Amino acid sequence: MSSPASSGQTEYAPATAATGPRITMPVPHGAKAIVDLRGVKRVYYKPDGEILAEALRGVDLSLYEGQYIAIMGQSGSGKSTMMNILGCLDRPTHGSYFLDGKDCSTMGDEELSRYRGRKIGFVFQAFNLIPELSVRENVEVPLFYQGVRPAERHRRATEVLTKVGLEHRLGHRPNDLSGGQQQRTAIARALVTSPAVLMADEPTGNLDSATGRAILDMFDELHASGITIIMVTHDPAVAERTQRVVRLKDGLVESDGPGGKGTAGPGMEH
Ligand SMILES: Nc1ncnc2c1ncn2[C@@H]1O[C@H](COP(=O)(O)OP(=O)(O)OP(=O)(O)O)[C@@H](O)[C@H]1O
Ligand SMILES: [Mg+2]
Repeated sequence: MSSPASSGQTEYAPATAATGPRITMPVPHGAKAIVDLRGVKRVYYKPDGEILAEALRGVDLSLYEGQYIAIMGQSGSGKSTMMNILGCLDRPTHGSYFLDGKDCSTMGDEELSRYRGRKIGFVFQAFNLIPELSVRENVEVPLFYQGVRPAERHRRATEVLTKVGLEHRLGHRPNDLSGGQQQRTAIARALVTSPAVLMADEPTGNLDSATGRAILDMFDELHASGITIIMVTHDPAVAERTQRVVRLKDGLVESDGPGGKGTAGPGMEH
C-alpha cells in the first residue's frame, strides 16, 4: 500500500469530512505518511444499540514521518478517542486507519497488538507503570512480549534508561520515584522497542510545570534525534515546540497548520 505522499511531489493533505473545513497543510517533500486516517468515525453505543456519543465524526488526516505534531482541542473534542485509534488501542467504527502503510482497521486483535508493539511507543498521562515491577522490569515488559531473551532485555532496558537519565534508579519501584522520574520511565518503556512513532496523550498533565517542561525538553531532544512524535496536549506552549498543530472540535478537524517550528523539520518546504 503506497501512501498518498510517497510520490515525493508537493501535494496537499486531503480535506476533512464534508462538514469540516478544507485543509491546506503542505506535505513535506518526499515524506512518508506514517499515519493515515480516512473517513474515521468512532461512535459509542449503549448496550441496546442506541448511540451514546459520536466522538469522531469523519476524520481524514495524514501525518508524516519525522514530524513533531500536536493534537489540540477542547475537552470532549475527541483527542483521546483519536489517539487511542492512532495507538491501536481502539478501532474506528467506520473508515480506515493506515499505520505505516498497513490497514489496522481490518486486523484481528492479535495481529493488531503485534503490529502495535513493533510500530508504536505510547506514553500515557497517568504513566501506567506496573507498581510490583522495578523500573528496569517495567521497561523490559514490551520486549518480553516480543520474545526477547532476558540478557538482551536487561541490556536494552538499561541502555534506554541511561538515555533518559535513570541509570541510578534501575531497581527502584515506580512508587518510590517522583512524577517526572515515573514519566521518564514510561518514555523509556515506549522507546525500548525502537518504534516508528512515539505517541503521547497529555504526558505532562499529571506533572508540575517545571517537571512538565523537563519532559517536553526530552521530547524535543527525541524529535531532534529523528523520532516522529504525535502528542495530545492542552498546553499552548507545546504548540510552539511542534511543526504542526491539528485542532479537533466536536469530533472533526477544525484546523490544521504549522506549529512554532513549522518550517524547520526534516524535508519541510521553506
Ligand atoms: N468509552 C466511552 N463511552 C462513551 N462515550 C465516550 C467514551 N469515551 C469518550 N466518550 C465521549 O466521546 C467524546 C470525546 O471524548 P474524548 O475522551 O476523546 O475527548 P478529549 O478531547 O480527549 O477530552 P479531554 O481533553 O477531556 O481529555 C466525549 O463526548 C466523550 O464523552
Ligand atoms: Mg483526553
